[in-house]
Amino acid sequence: MKISIIGSGYVGLVAGACLAELGHAVVLIDNDPVKFAALSGGECPIHEEHLPALLAKHRGKSLTFSRDLRVAVRGSQAVFIAVGTPPAVNGEADLSYVETVAREIAGALRNYTVVVDKSTVPVYTSEWVRKIILLDGAPAEMFDVASNPEFLREGTAVTDFLYPDRIVIGADTMRAADTLREIYRPLTDGSYYRRSDAIRINPGAQPRPARLIATSTKAAELIKYASNAFLAMKISFINAVATVCDSVGADVDEVREGIGSDSRIGSRFLVPGLGYGGSCFPKDLSAYHAVARECGYEFRLLEEVMRINNDQPQRFLRKIRSVLWTLKGKRLGVLGLAFKGGTDDVRESPAISIVESLLKEGCTIQAYDPAAMVRARELLGDRNITYVSSGYEAARDADALLILTEWQEFAELDPAQIRKLLRYPIVADGRNLFDCDVMRDNGLTYISVGRPDVNHWQKEPEYSRISAAETNKPRARSTFAESEMHEQPAVGAAGLD
Ligand code: UGA
Repeated sequence: MKISIIGSGYVGLVAGACLAELGHAVVLIDNDPVKFAALSGGECPIHEEHLPALLAKHRGKSLTFSRDLRVAVRGSQAVFIAVGTPPAVNGEADLSYVETVAREIAGALRNYTVVVDKSTVPVYTSEWVRKIILLDGAPAEMFDVASNPEFLREGTAVTDFLYPDRIVIGADTMRAADTLREIYRPLTDGSYYRRSDAIRINPGAQPRPARLIATSTKAAELIKYASNAFLAMKISFINAVATVCDSVGADVDEVREGIGSDSRIGSRFLVPGLGYGGSCFPKDLSAYHAVARECGYEFRLLEEVMRINNDQPQRFLRKIRSVLWTLKGKRLGVLGLAFKGGTDDVRESPAISIVESLLKEGCTIQAYDPAAMVRARELLGDRNITYVSSGYEAARDADALLILTEWQEFAELDPAQIRKLLRYPIVADGRNLFDCDVMRDNGLTYISVGRPDVNHWQKEPEYSRISAAETNKPRARSTFAESEMHEQPAVGAAGLD
C-alpha cells in the first residue's frame, strides 16, 4: 500500500521504518530542512534499537523522504499524521500542528484517502480533523479520518511496533477500517513473523499473530490517554507504597512481590523509583486531566498521580541529604541522566532535575550516561559538572555515588570496585538496582527507595537473611526493563508461543 507519514519525530520515524519493513511503500514527510537532510543523508537521529538497520535496509527503496506534502499525499491510500502535540500553557495538548497539516492534506486530496491520527491526541481530534478538511473544500466521499494510537516505548519502539500487545484501529466507516486492517495484515495474519528476514525478539520462538481491536475513533483516542494514565497511576501507586515502607521500615520489594503476584494486579510497572519522566506520561497526564475537565469531569485521581510523581525526586533529595548531611562542596558521582534506561532522551528526566538541584546547592558532579550525555550537556552545561566515560569513572574519588537512571549497565557494576573507587562508601540508588545485602557485604552504606537503609557499619538484621532464604530472593538484580522482559507473559507482544 502507498502510505505517507507526516512528521518524522519518534512516532513518525519508527512507524515509517516499520511499515516499510511490512512491505508498504512509505514516504516520510518533514518540513524541517535539517531533519530532512539528515534522514536523506543516511543518519538515524534517535537512539533506538533496530532503527538504524531498518533505515539502512529500506531507505531509497520502500522508504523515501520528502518535503512536499502535496505530492506525497496525492499518491497515497493512507496518510498518517504523526506531528508533535506539545503541552500548551494550560496543560492541554497544543493541536495547532495537527490543524495545519489537516488543512494542507485537504488541498492535496485527489483520490479516496484515509487520514489517520497517529499522534497522541485528545478525544474529538478526529472529528475536528474531519471538519477542517471539509471546511477546506475536500468532498466528504474523498476521505475518512481514523485514529490509530501507538503504544511504543522509547528504546524498544521497533519491536513494540512489530510485536504489539494489540493494534487499535478507531474508524467510523468500514472502508477506513478495512484500509487499516490491510496495512497491519502482515502482523495480524502472522506472515511477517514467518519471514526469514523478520526482526526477532525471541529467536527460536514462533510468535502468534498480533491482536487487532477495532473501535470507534473516539474510543481509540480515549484508549491511548487512558492506557498511559493507568500505567502512570501504577508507578505513582508503588511510589506511594514505597514511601509508607520507608516510614515503617518494610521492604517494598517484598510488598511488590506480594501484590504483583496477584494476576489481577500484575507485577509490571510496579517498580518504585524517582517517578516517571519522558515526553509522554507527564504531557499526556496533564492533557488527559485538561480534556476531562473540559468535558465536565474533575479527574482528581490524575491530580494525585501527578502530585506523587512530582514529589518523588524531592523525597530522594531529602534521602541524599540524610546520608551526606550538608551538600555544599560535595563531589558526587552520578549514574544516569536519561529519563529511563535504553534511551538518549532527557525530556522531563527526573535525573536532570535532581542534578540541577544538586548543582544549585553547591555540589560538583561527575556524571555518566551510556547514551544521553550529549543531550544532557545541552541542558546542564559544563559549570561544576564533568562528563566521564564510565560508571567507575563517575565513582572515582566521589563523596557518594548516585544512581538516577535504570540502565542495565549500571546494575552490572561491581560493588566491590565501586567501594574501592569512592572516597566515602556511600551509594544512593534512586532506581533500586542493587541488592541491599550485597551492598552491605561489600561495606557500602546504601540507601534506595522503599527499602531499609544499609549502613556499612551495621550488621544485617536477622529477619532479612531469613526472608531471603525463605522466598529464594535473588541476590543479583536487574533493571525494570529486564525484569519486564522476563515477566512478559507467554502471549506478550503479539504472543510468543
Ligand atoms: C510510554 C508508554 O509505556 C508507551 O506504551 C507509550 O506508547 C509511550 O509512553 C507514549 O505515549 O508514546 P515511554 O515514555 O517510552 O513509553 O517509557 P516507559 O517505559 O513507559 O517509562 C516511562 C517512565 O516511567 C520512565 O521514566 C521510567 O523510568 C518510569 N517507570 C516505568 C518507573 O518508574 N517504574 C516502572 O515500573 C516503569
